[in-house]
Amino acid sequence: MKIMTINGSLRKNGNTARTLCLLEAELNQLASAFGVELIFEHISLRDINLQYCRGCRTCFDRGEDKCPIKDDLASIQSKMANSDGLIAASPVYVNDVSGIMKTWLDRLAYLCHRPALSGKCALTVATIGVWPVDHTLNTLDFALSSWGYYLAGHLGIKGGALSTPEQILQLHDRQIKKAAAQLFFAIYQQKSSSPSFMSLMTFSIQQRYWRNKITQPSLDGDYWLNKGWTHPQCTYYIPTKNVRFKTALARLIGWGLSYFVT
Ligand SMILES: Cc1cc2nc3c(=O)[nH]c(=O)nc-3n(C[C@H](O)[C@H](O)[C@H](O)COP(=O)(O)O)c2cc1C
Repeated sequence: MKIMTINGSLRKNGNTARTLCLLEAELNQLASAFGVELIFEHISLRDINLQYCRGCRTCFDRGEDKCPIKDDLASIQSKMANSDGLIAASPVYVNDVSGIMKTWLDRLAYLCHRPALSGKCALTVATIGVWPVDHTLNTLDFALSSWGYYLAGHLGIKGGALSTPEQILQLHDRQIKKAAAQLFFAIYQQKSSSPSFMSLMTFSIQQRYWRNKITQPSLDGDYWLNKGWTHPQCTYYIPTKNVRFKTALARLIGWGLSYFVT
């Protein structure tokens, strides 16, 4: 099992880094209890060369490989593609993700059109001085689910200006254990094959959109076509299990909604 962590904090050993270490320790314990070999790949956005999105739309229209910016994004993309799970963690800056975290999300926006990470699992984490973390977690959850990730859970940590690992555990031990277990079992039990109602509905809306556009060649439309996602029998990005009734209902509502939103 391979899990990648993305730390969007600008502080080297801050609350976000400390929370990630605590999560890693819990995940290691779960892995050894279940006899699973667990490999971590850590990326700290502050340590890499990641430039702002220029808004040129080249990734949308001509492909992400044609992006005019030559920095470290490509190596992050390949690490994401080679991991089973992702932990995306950001400190809260003025009620949202840090600027560098937002840059990472913006640079990968093409994945909202071509959700290449479907089938992989993710956990989102926000650390904050006081409260609330909901808006920041929503930013991360929205992006990662649009990219195809199965959202195993999310974790909000109230860390003040700076907390020791012991102080973080004192307040959040139970939540950290729960979040680690949610991610571990989502990967271990392949829970991504039982997507949420919302994910199934979103898929059906997009499917109808791309099916209607099939005669107008585009990079995104061709991607959906080549993946087999526009086929009438296809109900999700990956084969699903135990969601027949949920899928039927989600498709019915999705198709109804698609008249208004596409
Ligand atoms: C620029 C900046 C903006 C912040 N904005 C908020 C905020 O809106 N609400 C809050 O409760 N804490 C805020 N904080 C505190 C951080 O969210 C909190 O200390 C976080 O855990 C820091 O994580 P780090 O140590 O990994 O950088 C802010 C901190 C900074 C540096």
